[in-house]
Amino acid sequence: MSRKYIIAGNWKMNKTPEEGKELASEIASIVSKDATVEVVVCPAFVALERVSQAIESSAVRLGAQNLYPKTSGAYTGEVSPEMLRAVFAKYVILGHSERREHFHESDAFINEKVKFSLENLLKPILCIGETLEQREAGETLDVVKTQLLGGLDGVDASGMSNLVIAYEPVWAIGTGKTATPEMAQEVHGSIRSLLKEAYSDAVAAKTRIIYGGSMKPANADDLLAQPDIDGGLIGGASLDSKSFGDLIDSARKLS
Ligand code: PGA
Repeated sequence: MSRKYIIAGNWKMNKTPEEGKELASEIASIVSKDATVEVVVCPAFVALERVSQAIESSAVRLGAQNLYPKTSGAYTGEVSPEMLRAVFAKYVILGHSERREHFHESDAFINEKVKFSLENLLKPILCIGETLEQREAGETLDVVKTQLLGGLDGVDASGMSNLVIAYEPVWAIGTGKTATPEMAQEVHGSIRSLLKEAYSDAVAAKTRIIYGGSMKPANADDLLAQPDIDGGLIGGASLDSKSFGDLIDSARKLS
């Protein structure tokens, strides 16, 4: 497989700058300069700069958890792509279900952020996924399709080469319930087919689609072994260098 695994830690609203620096230093010493797997850490805004310094001489990459799609100006409380680039962020998580739920982010707004990130040289990790009610009502593929095509509206093939999709079933996030490898593979396979239709075979074959939702060392091997699962977006298990390191190892073994 030509797609490189990506293991990304979404620290959410955890870790002060000092704690973030410590965790990032531990991860940097585990990864060192080994780029077999792409490793990304996404701390809260206030910890970005210190984490950036802690991973500077390693292969670990920095990501943010959000941005605002404007260059600068009167947007109290918001952070621009230029500010993120200034601390050497390369990635940005967009459309996370927690932002869709608590901050009422729509597909149209997420799409604006996706396009603005790409224009400003940040790589979006676009999150999509269904709730439990939607899954039980048999709507999973419809929901995923709407969020995927909505989020990618106006993104061309070259934009796609700088973007990662994260499939995160909402019912599996932070709940300890993981989609079985087969359930996850089914949706990942459908997402790849949608990319084939919307773009081309080549774009579909190259785009990385990662899984998120209670991924941990105990279930990672089976999830990552699925043909259309190209890595993980990890919350809880990314807050500890031992479990995050084990996840990186799982992906390395399969590389
Ligand atoms: P979790 O979170 O690993 O704690 O389930 C994943 C995510 O929300 O990105």
